[in-house]
Amino acid sequence: MQKNAPDSSSDNAAVCLEKISIGYGDNIVLKDIDFCVNRGDIVTVLGGSGCGKSTLLKAIIGLLPPLKGKIYLQGEEISGNVSGMTLAEARKRIGVLFQSAALIGSLTVAENVALPIVEFSKAPRGIIHDIVRLKLEMVKLGGFGEYFPSDLSGGMKKRVGLARAMALDPEILFCDEPSSGLDPVTSAEMDQLLLELNESLGITMVVITHDLPSIMTISDWSIMLDRSVRGIIAKGPPEELENSPDPRVHAFFHRQPAPEG
Ligand SMILES: Nc1ncnc2c1ncn2[C@@H]1O[C@H](COP(=O)(O)OP(=O)(O)OP(=O)(O)O)[C@@H](O)[C@H]1O
Ligand SMILES: [Mg+2]
Repeated sequence: MQKNAPDSSSDNAAVCLEKISIGYGDNIVLKDIDFCVNRGDIVTVLGGSGCGKSTLLKAIIGLLPPLKGKIYLQGEEISGNVSGMTLAEARKRIGVLFQSAALIGSLTVAENVALPIVEFSKAPRGIIHDIVRLKLEMVKLGGFGEYFPSDLSGGMKKRVGLARAMALDPEILFCDEPSSGLDPVTSAEMDQLLLELNESLGITMVVITHDLPSIMTISDWSIMLDRSVRGIIAKGPPEELENSPDPRVHAFFHRQPAPEG
C-alpha cells in the first residue's frame, strides 16, 4: 500500500524538521532541511560518507542545537527556548542506536541496557532486572546479560545497543547505520528485527543507512542527503528513488562511481 507523503502540517507527524541548518562553528553541514516522518513509518536517511547523516541525527535527538530552524517531536517543538516538550521529556520518548553501538566496556550487557532506565525512571531493582531480561530476549540475546561487550560479536553488540535504545519503550527509534560492519546474513537479521519492532509495536523509525538491501527492505520512505548541496536531493519511496533520473541518486542506488561535476 502506498503511504502518504510525510507532511509538515500533519498531526500524524512523529518528527518534523522546519528549515533546519546544522553545523559545527563556521562549518555549515546542512542547511534548510525540511522533512517530516509520519507516525509508524520507517524512514531511511541516505547519502555518501560525510554528507551529514549523523550530524542530522545529533540535532534531532537534541545533542547538537540547530543553528536555525525548528524541530518538532510528536507536534511539540524541542528546539530553542520554547515552552513545548523539554529535551529531558523528549529523550524519554525516543531511543537511539548510535553508529558504533556506544556500549560501555566496563559494564555488563545487562548494566548497559539498564542505563536509560536507571537514568530516567525510579523503577526498583527487581523491575529493572525484569525489563532488561525482556529487552534482551526481544533482540534474541536472552542469557547474555552477564557478558561484557568485548565478549560479543559486532552483530550482538548492535543488538545490545538496540535493546538499550528500546529500554524505555520509545515511540520513536533512531538508528545510525544498524547494519554497518555486519555480514549480509546478520544485516538481514537486523532488518527483520527492526521490521518486527515496527510492525508489532508501531514504533516510528528513522534509520541512517547506506546498505542497499536494507534500504529496499525496511523503508517506507527515504531521504537522500548530498554533501555538495548541503541538503536533501531526493525524497520518496526507495523504489522511486532507484529509478530517479538524477545522476547522483542513480549512482547511489546502482552502486556506481559519483558523476563528475
Ligand atoms: N564533532 C564535530 N566537529 C566538527 N565537525 C564535525 C564533527 N562531527 C562531524 N563533523 C563534520 O561534519 C560533516 C558531516 O559528518 P557526519 O559524521 O555527520 O557525516 P555522515 O554522513 O554521518 O558520514 P558517515 O557515513 O561516514 O558516518 C563532516 O565534514 C565532518 O567532518
Ligand atoms: Mg555517520
